[in-house]
Amino acid sequence: MKDLYGLIGYRLSHSFSRKYFSDKFQREHISNAEYGLFELEDIQELPELLEEQPEIRGLNVTIPYKQQVMRYLDELDGSAKKVGAVNTIKFLKGKRIGYNTDYYGFKESLEKWVEGAKIEKALILGTGGASRAVKCALYDMGIEYIMVSREASEHAVSYAELKEKYDLQDYPLIINTTPLGMSPHTEVCPDLSYEKLSASHLCYDLVYNPEETLFMKKAAEQGAAVKNGMEMLHLQAEKSWEIWNQ
Ligand SMILES: NC(=O)c1ccc[n+]([C@@H]2O[C@H](COP(=O)([O-])OP(=O)(O)OC[C@H]3O[C@@H](n4cnc5c(N)ncnc54)[C@H](OP(=O)(O)O)[C@@H]3O)[C@@H](O)[C@H]2O)c1
Repeated sequence: MKDLYGLIGYRLSHSFSRKYFSDKFQREHISNAEYGLFELEDIQELPELLEEQPEIRGLNVTIPYKQQVMRYLDELDGSAKKVGAVNTIKFLKGKRIGYNTDYYGFKESLEKWVEGAKIEKALILGTGGASRAVKCALYDMGIEYIMVSREASEHAVSYAELKEKYDLQDYPLIINTTPLGMSPHTEVCPDLSYEKLSASHLCYDLVYNPEETLFMKKAAEQGAAVKNGMEMLHLQAEKSWEIWNQ
């Protein structure tokens, strides 16, 4: 019987993960593994799924269950504890262990991109699920950050405040963790004063489809270096594979 891996979430038809792992199994001649999609209407269906599919060795977790799934696990690895969300589960000797590979994917891709350059301050656009992994990675890299949100709060400034009171030159790293600009709504981007960006900026978009988002295009027009979320996506998937097979 093949080892089974898969993705749990809700509305999975456009999943990147299944194609990624199917291609990987073919490319690397891994013939004893299969990757399936397990759509759950409610996270309470997870125990039943695990009973029905005892050959599952690992799962990825996506929206909307990255936090809800935590109560079904026996242990959390440091990455999942830090981020407060799980996107990978390993089944080991009857134990269910949760990890967060978005954290690893983002941190590794950023470290490679900046190549040891000392970055002191960053802006994180958006305060949703993905921003939590980004926040932890920046913290661990010693980069100070400000969160930017549609609504100002104790933890975030609004886009209007950012324009009025902050100098973008003080924030050489800007990370878009909002879904703005993602296909098919490619005509939108976060509300920034793009004309104030310069060649000293690094603008990282977690969105990976399209290859160049409007955020990246507008930043590049000012001379900024830009990067999309594709490498992070691949790194987080590879990290899941490594965790399942270590
Ligand atoms: N490359 C990768 O490996 C990777 C991994 C994870 C996620 N992602 C991508 O990252 C993006 C965010 O994912 P997520 O799970 O964090 O999504 P999310 O929780 O739905 O949204 C993130 C945040 O974006 C802001 N936002 C949402 N709609 C907005 C709008 N219309 N205008 C301005 N801000 C808006 C919100 O923050 P405020 O309410 O504070 O404004 C929201 O909390 C998605 O495109 C996802 O595909 C990529």
